[in-house]
Amino acid sequence: MRYIEFGQRGTKVSEVILGAMRIADKTPEEVATLIETALDSGINAVDTAPIYGPSEGIIGNAFAARPGLRDRVWLQTKLGIRPHPQRKANYFDFSYEHIMESVDNSLRALQTDHVDSLLLHRPDALMEPDEIARAFQELYDAGKVLDFGVSNQNPAMIRRIQRRLPFALAANQVQISAAFTPMFDAFFNANMQNDAGIMRDGGILEYADEHDMAIQAWSVLQHGYFGGVFLGNPDYAELNEALERIAADHDSTPTAVAINWVLRYPTKMQAIVGTTRPERVRMSAAACDWVMSREEWYEVYLAAGNQLP
Ligand SMILES: NC(=O)c1ccc[n+]([C@@H]2O[C@H](COP(=O)([O-])OP(=O)(O)OC[C@H]3O[C@@H](n4cnc5c(N)ncnc54)[C@H](OP(=O)(O)O)[C@@H]3O)[C@@H](O)[C@H]2O)c1
Repeated sequence: MRYIEFGQRGTKVSEVILGAMRIADKTPEEVATLIETALDSGINAVDTAPIYGPSEGIIGNAFAARPGLRDRVWLQTKLGIRPHPQRKANYFDFSYEHIMESVDNSLRALQTDHVDSLLLHRPDALMEPDEIARAFQELYDAGKVLDFGVSNQNPAMIRRIQRRLPFALAANQVQISAAFTPMFDAFFNANMQNDAGIMRDGGILEYADEHDMAIQAWSVLQHGYFGGVFLGNPDYAELNEALERIAADHDSTPTAVAINWVLRYPTKMQAIVGTTRPERVRMSAAACDWVMSREEWYEVYLAAGNQLP
């Protein structure tokens, strides 16, 4: 496993993070085993959110079932996505009141006195950065949150919040996979007249690198917006062939190669894996066993159906 230096203290956090969005039907015992498998594989980080149904509560019960487990884990949660009371939809809330209330609810559910990192989950159009800064400062002073970050935000949004804070935002959690590459597409086609050249993210990767911010890639095995897994998917036959060929060359697996591909971008990268199976957690951790060559990285990009200028 490889580790990055995360946040204000340079905490050693694994490049592969265990994501807990899909554990709703798992028991606390099963989740404790999943987390212990991750730890045994060198993955020391767990990501959750209140919007992931019972996820935080199950993790909290897993910690309660295995004394000492919480202290071995770097724990991150998020906030700001709320079910709308009148509509069958979510809305976003970064108000001071919601931030404070959500963190207290998360700590209660997770059965812990602090989280190591807290992310603003999806941008709230009505956010008032001064309120966010006040809430973050109070949470930090109370020892409830050690580091703060954002998710799904572009540099302009991040700058608005960052300039009010006395400490650096540590992470931006965004969607990246071999089959979801708008950031790379815009990069390769900069200043061209084709649609691929349209930069929709405002330079998220470049901003992160400039500000020593971790990029946490979510859905690293999925295509589209929650479109499903591309591994073994006949719609991605050429991509799967490339992943299998590279895996065979390194005595690895397509899963590890796909994650290795995401981590290969040369900045502070992390990949959050959402598997609920211990054997796939081990497979995912193996993504860090070797560094992908340029030829391999570009082969995967092209095999996913992309073109280079
Ligand atoms: N910030 C955000 O907006 C945001 C959004 C989405 C997710 N996230 C975070 O990112 C984490 C990961 O997201 P994700 O769950 O979408 O990631 P993922 O790792 O791309 O997908 C995990 C899913 O893929 C399945 N899977 C894995 N390998 C497979 C294979 N070889 N064949 C078939 N199915 C396979 C897993 O099933 P098994 O369980 O059976 O292995 C699981 O259902 C989440 O847990 C959450 O923490 C954040």
